[in-house]
Amino acid sequence: MSETKGQTAIAHTNIALIKYWGKADPVLNLPTTSSLSLTLDEYYTKTRVEEADEDSLLINELPQDGKRVHQFLNILREEMGNFPPLRVISENKVPLSAGLASSASSFAALTAAVAKHNGWDLSLEELSRLARRGSGSATRSFFPDFAIWDKGHDDKSSYAHHLDVPDLPIALVVCRISGMVKKVSSSDGMQRAQTSPNYQAWVDESAKQLEDMKVALANADLDRVGQIAEKNALAMHDLNLTATKQRFTYFNQNTMKVLNEVKALRAKGYIAYATMDAGPNVKIITNREQAEAIKEYLAERFRKIQFDIATPGPGISYE
Ligand code: DP6
Repeated sequence: MSETKGQTAIAHTNIALIKYWGKADPVLNLPTTSSLSLTLDEYYTKTRVEEADEDSLLINELPQDGKRVHQFLNILREEMGNFPPLRVISENKVPLSAGLASSASSFAALTAAVAKHNGWDLSLEELSRLARRGSGSATRSFFPDFAIWDKGHDDKSSYAHHLDVPDLPIALVVCRISGMVKKVSSSDGMQRAQTSPNYQAWVDESAKQLEDMKVALANADLDRVGQIAEKNALAMHDLNLTATKQRFTYFNQNTMKVLNEVKALRAKGYIAYATMDAGPNVKIITNREQAEAIKEYLAERFRKIQFDIATPGPGISYE
């Protein structure tokens, strides 16, 4: 146990079922669309902040240049009033190869730890608003199960909240296709996607899909949840391909092969729908009962890919 005064917070990562893929204001990190996510139990970040002589960052025991974290701490100082330098010690349990945004859990845990350490009395929504400046997807990692990040229209109105829904036996089969560092960062990818002629149509469609998704969740209709999520994700990736400036794709050959298997699984009667983020990895939306069988089915066909099963997870916690 360290003697130094400090505070630890734990945040779980989340997967967006309705994606955030574009910024209306890149400085304030205001999104072009509202997004909806599921927090995951299996992947999290545990972050401790301690008083120090200067800001520094350690992730999984390795010192980092920490520019993004340092900038974020300064944003918090501007917003909330000055506080002394902090050593940030982060344990990241989001495997790179899972292709899940570790920036979501990292900036949520950091925001919560700094706030508690400084004695700020903030609601989860207020913490979410602050975390947005670190990384957009972090807004949603304060809440258990489902969360909606309302895009809002300015710095004050853009943050996430919990979405209360009836019990849903949702599970994800995470196909860990590649752990290579993203060749196009999310921020860069979004900027490119926003040059697609289809971008405005995606934004308009996304607003409808969010409403449809709320209904599907309220009805605990997992098939419908999967259908909407898959459609939203595929259209997001289509924006990358149709960008007029530096079009690109996160998909590789295995992504396409797994996507074909997802279709084949559906044809066999399984609940199986795909969603992908800023990388080649596919996450298959299914239910708890079928997740293991889907994992085995895929493991037989893709011997080099690792598969995890992920389930709904908790909101922010402190130690
Ligand atoms: C594809 O939150 O990583 O995972 O705000 O620039 O840090 P920044 O982007 P980030 O973007 C995540 C994009 C996504 C979809 C999503 O999580 O909604």
